Amino acid sequence: MSYVKGLAGIVAGQTKISSTDNQRLTYAGYPIEELAQKTFEEVVFLLWNTRLPDQDELLRFRNDLVSKMVLPAETIRLLSYIAREPQHPMSILRTTTSLLGTTNDVEHDEPPKILSKMLTAIAAIVRIRDDDPLIDLDPTLGVADNFLYMLTGKRPNAELSGMFNTVMILHADHEFNASTFTARVVSSTFSDYYSCLTAAVCALKGPLHGGANERVFEMLSIIVENEMDPLSFVAEQAHAKRKIMGFGHRIYKNGDPRAFILKEIAAKLAEETNNQKYFEIQQQLADYMLKNKQLHPNVDYYTALIYHCLGLKKETFTMIFAACRTAGWLAHVMEQRSQKCLIRPNSEYIGPKERHCVR
Ligand SMILES: CC(C)(COP(=O)(O)OP(=O)(O)OC[C@H]1O[C@@H](n2cnc3c(N)ncnc32)[C@H](O)[C@@H]1OP(=O)(O)O)[C@@H](O)C(=O)NCCC(=O)NCCS
Repeated sequence: MSYVKGLAGIVAGQTKISSTDNQRLTYAGYPIEELAQKTFEEVVFLLWNTRLPDQDELLRFRNDLVSKMVLPAETIRLLSYIAREPQHPMSILRTTTSLLGTTNDVEHDEPPKILSKMLTAIAAIVRIRDDDPLIDLDPTLGVADNFLYMLTGKRPNAELSGMFNTVMILHADHEFNASTFTARVVSSTFSDYYSCLTAAVCALKGPLHGGANERVFEMLSIIVENEMDPLSFVAEQAHAKRKIMGFGHRIYKNGDPRAFILKEIAAKLAEETNNQKYFEIQQQLADYMLKNKQLHPNVDYYTALIYHCLGLKKETFTMIFAACRTAGWLAHVMEQRSQKCLIRPNSEYIGPKERHCVR
């Protein structure tokens, strides 16, 4: 057995949930480009059952998820303290995910309840930190619309609803990415769902994974606020050998299929919300990166602008990613459990050998 840095190219397990084979993203065999037109709950059903629901099943599933988008009073009381802490929202979410596993029935809670509570908790964290009142679910809205409504206090119109469903769908799963693999490792020990999700949130937080979207907007803000020339900025960063957030991918070397769809949504929302300047800068940076580094934008690049256009603060961006990815994490946790196999690889020992303790 030989070591491969970062497990690049290593097949670490089997899954029926999603695939990036041939640099195409599919969920249970369906191309992401086709699924992007569906609703979030339809895709969650697909990820959890590896088949699309019929109309009755979809309605029941949607109603079940929406009806569960409530938190126990005790959780809200505790959240109102925790969420106000000065730590980064992803640190708050890490604690909150763990908290959900103590204020709820850990052993008996099932994925629909867990996903719904995660969405509601994330919206609550955003609103508590902004001193805004919490919003109760609207039973007439779907899951993604309710989540957006609970985040922003505004019911989305049909066009925004379609775009936000697409954003959530594109973030819902991505085979063995770092946070999902983390969740699967924890699941393989037969630990509970909340423990698996808490570990996944920890992995997603890092800037090389989900934390990149916040850094993308930070970069755009620096350029705008200091009236910098985007090309000089990026050339300087490249010269200093700093990574440009939102570019590159371990698997997609010819472009991230999600980024192509997200780019269109970002362009539309930027125009509607008078944020074109950010989109123009993004295009200049993307051209530079492709020409000079042969790197394409990834999922986090245009998402950053989309979330900004929705009125969200950059510190909360990775939490929105977590909300969407909870669907995929839960799918993988279930699949891993069913495989009944502890994930326990080997390491290559590179320290000194044949040492002995002398009395
Ligand atoms: C995602 C990522 C970790 C994948 O990386 P990877 O396949 O392991 O590739 P590496 O990080 O080893 O990078 C390979 C080379 O490309 C360069 N590179 C990769 N991404 C880069 C970026 N965003 N900006 C500048 N250079 C980059 C590296 O510096 C390295 O160059 P070198 O060979 O001269 O040292 C990497 O592209 C990255 O850090 N991107 C920025 C963070 C980000 O957007 N993350 C979200 C991913 S969806």
